[in-house]
Amino acid sequence: MLAAGGLVLMPTETVYGLAADAANPRAVAAIYEAKGRPSFNPLIAHVSDVTMARRIAVFDDRAERLSAAFWPGPLTLVLPVADGGAVCDLARAGLDTVAVRAPSHPMARALIAAFGGPIVAPSANRSGRPSPTTFADAMEETGAATGSALDGGHCAVGLESTVVALLYEARLLRPGAVTRSEIEAMIGPLLEAEGDAKRSPGRMTRHYAPSAPVRLDVVVPAPGEAWLSFGGAGSGPWNLSPSGDLREAAANLFAYLRAADRTHPTAIAIAPIPPEGLGEAINDRLRRAAGFVG
Ligand code: TXA
Ligand code: MG
Repeated sequence: MLAAGGLVLMPTETVYGLAADAANPRAVAAIYEAKGRPSFNPLIAHVSDVTMARRIAVFDDRAERLSAAFWPGPLTLVLPVADGGAVCDLARAGLDTVAVRAPSHPMARALIAAFGGPIVAPSANRSGRPSPTTFADAMEETGAATGSALDGGHCAVGLESTVVALLYEARLLRPGAVTRSEIEAMIGPLLEAEGDAKRSPGRMTRHYAPSAPVRLDVVVPAPGEAWLSFGGAGSGPWNLSPSGDLREAAANLFAYLRAADRTHPTAIAIAPIPPEGLGEAINDRLRRAAGFVG
């Protein structure tokens, strides 16, 4: 299907992706069309390993260390594009940089290995909607545009990968499952993405939004609101993690936002989530869902 220029729904450990041959601009155009992306937002090239990554991107010492530590896994590196690399201009939105990651999900790994080259895949949601973390949600979003769809069950991480740009400076473009402190322990301080938002349009306001308004830091929900609680005090069907585990909360976040949204509440009220570790990425997605981040 990929070799024929078709689109494939691909499970990864983070969220479902809508995949195409990175070298085929017509297939990449079909991804943008299926997602309804307002402009050409660059895509992540998914590779098997560092060897395949070095064919499309220029690795420096920092990239070597981070990929050795966290691949395969939920870390994306934005690097200078390699001469003659297979990722087409359209997939890079014309930039001279390319985003690469080696996913750990066995079905994604098998797909890339069988195809034998890099596969670009944005999250499989339509533009402006939460990333799908179950096969059913992914099919509902962009299933109609795909030629094949792989059912990999629930995504274990549930949040998109951490995106780090290693150009001149090291910047955290998108917090994710690999935490800031894990990365800083290996390559030193990360600068903020601020002012760099154009280079990572996934950070736009309300990028991850459900239809209902979202209210944050809610300890007591109002009547008519759907409540996403966290920790022991939570009641109702959507406790992100009864034991207060941030990994479990991340894995449940997008599926619970969607489930709550389907009940047409007056608002989706969300309990406070601690900011440490994986909490930075969870709070980032929640602030975007609430429309608070410009
Ligand atoms: O976990 C993930 O990363 C998922 C799975 C499917 O791998 N993919 C994903 O892709 O979240 P997407 O397209 O929804 O988000 C990719 C992010 C966007 O914010 C995009 O702007 C940024 O990476 N990005 C891609 N290439 C870039 C580049 N050359 N420079 C800066 N940012 C880039
Ligand atoms: Mg996305």
